[in-house]
Amino acid sequence: MAILNFGSLCIDNVYRVPHFVRPGETLPSTDYQVFAGGKGFNQSLAIARAGTPVVHAGAYGAGGEWLVDMLRADNVDVAHLHRAGVPTGHAVIQVAEDGGNAIVLFPGANRAITREHIDSTLAGFGAGDILLLQNEISHPGYLIEQGAARGLRIVMNPAPMDTVVKALPLHLLHMLVVNEVEAEDLTGRQYVDEMVQVLGERYPDTISVVTLGAGGAVWLSPAECFHVPAHKVDVVDTTGAGDTFTGYLLASLEQGMAPEAAMRRATAAAALCVSRAGAADSVPRAGEVTVASHAR
Ligand code: RIB
Repeated sequence: MAILNFGSLCIDNVYRVPHFVRPGETLPSTDYQVFAGGKGFNQSLAIARAGTPVVHAGAYGAGGEWLVDMLRADNVDVAHLHRAGVPTGHAVIQVAEDGGNAIVLFPGANRAITREHIDSTLAGFGAGDILLLQNEISHPGYLIEQGAARGLRIVMNPAPMDTVVKALPLHLLHMLVVNEVEAEDLTGRQYVDEMVQVLGERYPDTISVVTLGAGGAVWLSPAECFHVPAHKVDVVDTTGAGDTFTGYLLASLEQGMAPEAAMRRATAAAALCVSRAGAADSVPRAGEVTVASHAR
């Protein structure tokens, strides 16, 4: 079965700061680097580096060719990437001393994706294939509806969370991957067990995965509910950890791993990601994750 990731590509401008800039404050950064990123891009790279073929569809603009080259270099199929007449999406990312981040996103070409582009791409996929989505491109609702109508299994990481997400037909998803903040926003609950319960009641046919950062992650499907712990690591930069987790989880399940083993592998991959700087650049390769898993 094929995995189609219809997702964003971004140029990440990353500034190291002593703390997140406050309103009215001018804050010198201690370091500046440019990385490849975008939730969609990071997730495609994670799937490919985990050893599963993936097709990345989306849009980039002027100055974004190196992102496409980077996907190609990791054997991601870029046949459905279009060049748009607007700039490539970019992010301004502050990374604080504890590795936490604050992100301002300029969508650019990611929001220039048309329904025609979506239709022509989906025409090449069918029942049983996976359609992976985030919330950084245009027409997420149309993608879910059209994907479901074709019998695709839709996996969504609805990040960044906004009012659009709450209006999406999330009941059509095969799998929903959210972090704790997104789960709280979606369910209106503060405690993880209550969030998980509400997700199960609201989307009974959907697998819900809630990532908890240093607290690990929870899996809820109609068949089982369990928690896996996170690895303890020195945090350098948390950017892209959720994307690494999502990509590795999906790739591992597609490789036939049982849910718990796939969740443990995804957690190990995310731990490696946070121990390095950058988003896409910090997504580990499969061999490294095996070592990390054994090191627990
Ligand atoms: O999830 C991390 C990503 O979010 C960054 O790479 C940035 O581009 C934003 O989209």
